[in-house]
Order: sequence, then structure tokens, then C-alpha cells
Amino acid sequence: QLADSLFIINNFARDYFVKTLHETEEGQNVGLSYFEERGFTEETVRKFQLGYCLNERDAFVKAAVAKGYNQEYLLKTGLVAIRNEQPADNYRGRVIFPIHNQSGKVLGFGARILVKNDRAPKYINSPENEIYVKSKVLYGTYFARHSIDKLDECLLVEGYTDVVSLHQAGIENVVASSGTSLTTDQLRLIKKYTRNLTILYDGDNAGVKAALRGLDMAIEEGLNVKLALIPDKEDPDSYVRKIGAEGFRQFIAENKQDFILFKLQVSLKEAGNDTTRKSQLVNEIAETISRIDKVEDFTKQQDYIRQCSQLLKIDEEGMVTLVNKYIR
Ligand code: UTP
Ligand code: MN
Ligand code: MN
Ligand code: MN
Ligand code: MN
Repeated sequence: QLADSLFIINNFARDYFVKTLHETEEGQNVGLSYFEERGFTEETVRKFQLGYCLNERDAFVKAAVAKGYNQEYLLKTGLVAIRNEQPADNYRGRVIFPIHNQSGKVLGFGARILVKNDRAPKYINSPENEIYVKSKVLYGTYFARHSIDKLDECLLVEGYTDVVSLHQAGIENVVASSGTSLTTDQLRLIKKYTRNLTILYDGDNAGVKAALRGLDMAIEEGLNVKLALIPDKEDPDSYVRKIGAEGFRQFIAENKQDFILFKLQVSLKEAGNDTTRKSQLVNEIAETISRIDKVEDFTKQQDYIRQCSQLLKIDEEGMVTLVNKYIR
């Protein structure tokens, strides 16, 4: 009941923001121009149902109230907030990215400021409520699912605009974690379509560290995780615009590496000549390998034992014993 009401309001808001973008002067001059400058085509803007919220105090609230929507529910969606004791639009003067569930219903929104500044967040996202549970959602799933299924691979990026740009470049099997670290529920969502996950993050950032932390979880879920590091100062959106769709595909193909081996190499570098740290590392990697399902993926587990032992310069039999110790 409440959930239905929130979906209805989000649906109305999505349509309202799309209409505002295309049919008002401000929407065209500010919102559409912004998307154009980013290189998004009209078709892309339509497909992702991108919108614009007028830079007015309460244009949306008024339209929603006129439609008969209940203020309490409007507040719950985060579209509206109380300012100076009056309801006001929360996404004023921002471009809007609707966040869909797998069947295309609007769970919430990400609203981007047009010009970055220090006073306001770049994106305002919907708060969690009865229909929007961040930990269960991956942005773009609705648009990506057929392609993920067909290609049997899911690309994971950080941001809304990465998904949109890659789509426009014809790379459609892509979803975004929206700047948070991966959860088990999100991994299970991916697993409905494929077991092959490729993470496309920039190497210098916290995202990779977070993804590394999530690695054991992904292994536990039986996913094959690969990683291609996007060059410094770029993200998939900027990079695909820079080198083109074919260049981007080629870059991924050439730079895709196994995530477990990547993690091991990073840790080995960090450990250097520290023997204590190195033996910790051996244990950590053995634990990670132990999470690979021995029944389902026996050869995969053996492959990792062999490759990791070599990288660590330790005896393979010893590694087998250690891995078995961790199997619960
Ligand atoms: P980024 O800072 O990389 O933004 O954050 P972006 O996606 O590249 O966006 P543009 O190109 O600057 O427009 C990655 C993701 O983290 C979340 C958003 O989901 C964003 O897409 N994020 C980031 C927020 O939720 N709030 C923020 O203030 C910043
Ligand atoms: Mn499949
Ligand atoms: Mn980044
Ligand atoms: Mn970006
Ligand atoms: Mn980015």
C-alpha cells in the first residue's frame, strides 16, 4: 500500500522532470544543454528518462499536491523537504537520473548539480524508504540485463554517468554501484544474469579498496571476478569519450585481470621484505581461495592454489593444507 503510493509518486515525478527538461525554456537551456555538453544524445537522454528540476522553490511540490499526492509520502520519497516550515523541492536546479528496478519501476533518483561547488553535494540521492533500499540496487540493471545475459558478463562501474555513456557507446552490459561498496544482495542480483563480473574502477581511488574488501563476498557467491583499472584521472564515462567505443573495448580486453591474483600482487608489493606481513598474506589468500566452492569449482580452486603458490614462492602442498584448514 505505502510502497504502491511511493511508486506512483516516483512515476509522476519521473514524467514531470522529463517533461520539464524537454518542454520548458529553462529545461532546454539549462538541463538539455548540460546533457548535450556531456555528449549525451537525445536518444540516450530519452532512453534513461533523464530529467530536470526547475530552479524554483516549489514548482514540483505544487504540481504534486495539485495532483492530490499526500505530503507525508512526498517527504518519504525525498523529492520534497520542509524548508522554513514549508514544503520545498529538494532537487532544485539539478538534472535528474531516475533509478529503476529490474522491471523498470522507479525506485528513486540521483540529482546532479550543474556546476560543482563546495557548498552543496554533487549528487543528492533519494533516501532509503519502503521501496528504495540502496544495498539491493544497482543503477542501470533494467537497461543492462538482456545484454548481461547475452554476453554472460556484467561490467561494474562507479557512477550513473559511466553507465549512460557506455550504453551510448554500445556497451550495454554495465551497472553502477553508485559510489558505495558492493553488498551481498547486489552480488546476488548480478548472479541472476551471469557469474562473470568485471570491475571497472580507477586504480587510485577508494573504490578499488572497497571492492577488494568485497572480494571474499563475491567469491562466496561463486562469482568470477575480474578487474580492469581505468587510467588515473579518468572514469569510464570520460575515458570512452576520449578513446571511443572500439578503443574502450580493446582497453578492457587487454587490461582485464583476475581479481584474486591482482589482490595478491598488490599485497605482495605492500609487504615487501616484511616476513610477518608475508605470512599473514599467505593466510589471507588461503582463506580467500578456501571460499571457492570445492564441489562446484574444483579445478578453479586448484588453479588458484597453483598460481598463488608460485607468486608467493611457497610450496604448493603447503598451500593445499592451509586452504583445507580454512574450509568450513
Ligand atoms: P563520481 O564522483 O565519480 O561521479 O561518483 P560521476 O559518476 O563521475 O559523475 P560526474 O561525471 O561527475 O557527473 C561516482 C558515483 O558516486 C555517487 C553517484 O552515484 C556517482 O555517480 N555519488 C558521488 C553520490 O552519490 N554523491 C556525490 O556527491 C558524489
Ligand atoms: Mn546468463
Ligand atoms: Mn572516481
Ligand atoms: Mn564522471
Ligand atoms: Mn566518476
